[in-house]
Amino acid sequence: MTTTIEKSLNDFQIEKFQKALVSWFHQEKRDLPWRRTEDPFRIWVSEIMLQQTRVDTVIPYYERFIDKFPTLHDFANAKEDEILKAWEGLGYYSRVRNLQTAVREVAEKYNGNVPEDPKQFQSLKGVGPYTAGAVMSIAFRKPEPAVDGNVMRVFSRVFSIEEDIAKPKTRKTFEGLVREVIDHEDPSGFNQGIMELGALICTPQSPSCLLCPVRDYCKGFHEGKEKILPIKNTKKSSTKKKWMSALVLTNDGQIVVQKRPETGLLASMWQFPMIEKGKNGDLDAFRSWLKEELNLEIEHMEPLTTVKHVFSHVEWEIDAYVVKGSISSVELPYQIMTEKQMSEYAFPVPFQKMWKAFKETH
Ligand code: ADE
Repeated sequence: MTTTIEKSLNDFQIEKFQKALVSWFHQEKRDLPWRRTEDPFRIWVSEIMLQQTRVDTVIPYYERFIDKFPTLHDFANAKEDEILKAWEGLGYYSRVRNLQTAVREVAEKYNGNVPEDPKQFQSLKGVGPYTAGAVMSIAFRKPEPAVDGNVMRVFSRVFSIEEDIAKPKTRKTFEGLVREVIDHEDPSGFNQGIMELGALICTPQSPSCLLCPVRDYCKGFHEGKEKILPIKNTKKSSTKKKWMSALVLTNDGQIVVQKRPETGLLASMWQFPMIEKGKNGDLDAFRSWLKEELNLEIEHMEPLTTVKHVFSHVEWEIDAYVVKGSISSVELPYQIMTEKQMSEYAFPVPFQKMWKAFKETH
């Protein structure tokens, strides 16, 4: 045990804390769809969706996803375009691609049974320490820590820990601490209780300490530090800006679309034909690109809209144009689709916005 953990546990009333937390959770927990199942596959899906995405946003996606892929095998056997479509709008699309890779491994190597061994489970694609701990504790009642940013906030207050939660090392400290204090009778209630506390009471800005079930055990509260904790030294992230031009071309209800490469940002998703133009890129360069790349004879071209979208490390500013013209045939990665066909494929949010702008004006 490191000294931080030893110090934290000195005088800490572990059993009383566990009981207060777990009974509060069972009384106050929100009725969320993934709390009505014991199927490890469904719990796994929910935990992947809940990374980087809010509960309210996740609920309808989770329900549609489970309707479409009720079992692990349904999901393992689905086509890439189908799984991306089910994730359309949620962002961080590698989550769903990795989930399928992992689920296929479970189907083949473990006969479709999600492994109950934390190490085996964590060796699967896209399964990090948080996901492993969450699924192992919720689905199999294993006393494993599931430490994400919310859990670090709660624990840094409860134990008045001033380590920088932005450092990877700090998460390990909290994992060690959770291993010491987790309730072995109800690891699921304990881990979800901490998450629920972080969501409902021990919120980032003004925590509702007066309503908190574990206030009596909270060192941060007693020291009056609940508002300054956790300590998080964020580096300004350097998002890179890119300027793009995109085309919405319709020809008798036929729409030209482009499949993105299989790796990198928004891998394998679909978009309208687009190129990077640079900050001061001109329209003539875009016109000649369209001519060469798509064999397009432009009759008329007009600006449609400008769409901005911030990803984790890049920001796009896309000028979209509507073009009328004739196009004979296209080659991969381009394809011609009808609107109905388009609805079967996953388009990232900025392209959905362009399409909406187009439908409203044409
Ligand atoms: N955030 C991460 N996992 C969660 C869960 N199982 N329930 C509610 N919020 C969560």
